[in-house]
Amino acid sequence: MKKGLVLAVFVVFSFVATASVFAGECPQPRKTGAAPANIAAMDELGGADAKNGERLFQKDAKPMACMQCHGPKGDGMGKLGAGLKPKPRNFTCAETMKDVSPGQMFFIIKNGSKGTPMIPQKLTDKEIWDVIKYVRTTFAK
Ligand code: HEC
Repeated sequence: MKKGLVLAVFVVFSFVATASVFAGECPQPRKTGAAPANIAAMDELGGADAKNGERLFQKDAKPMACMQCHGPKGDGMGKLGAGLKPKPRNFTCAETMKDVSPGQMFFIIKNGSKGTPMIPQKLTDKEIWDVIKYVRTTFAK
């Protein structure tokens, strides 16, 4: 009985450890500055276009496609992401993303996260909402 329990804990632990190697750290430590309350409460996902968001995230966003850092699967494991400090947000990590509202995402995508490689993105407000919709409906489970 006890042995079984130890084994079960070990199996679960190694699964979690392996999963985190392939899918990015989760929970992911997060020290990102908070958006002002009025912006954090914004939500314009209703009229947003996830398909256009996908195009921007994977390919066309300026100065650089989000996937270069956040990874094509949104797990923070993009080609440029691995060496960065702090690490790009892992959008697949529900435990971390539960504290990140659509308005918070809007604020950081528009203004950047000061002192980190997450620099302000040259997108219109509508394009930012399209990207947020794509990220939240595709990666954030
Ligand atoms: C050069 C690499 C890089 C690119 C390109 C990039 N990011 Fe980031 N992003 C980061 C890093 C690093 C962080 C973590 C910042 C922090 O911890 O404060 C981050 C954090 C974020 C966050 C987290 C906000 C929060 O409050 O936790 C969001 C949302 C985000 N990025 C969206 C995007 C989107 C959308 C794009 C493309 C339009 C993009 N990023 C492009 C590196 C990048």
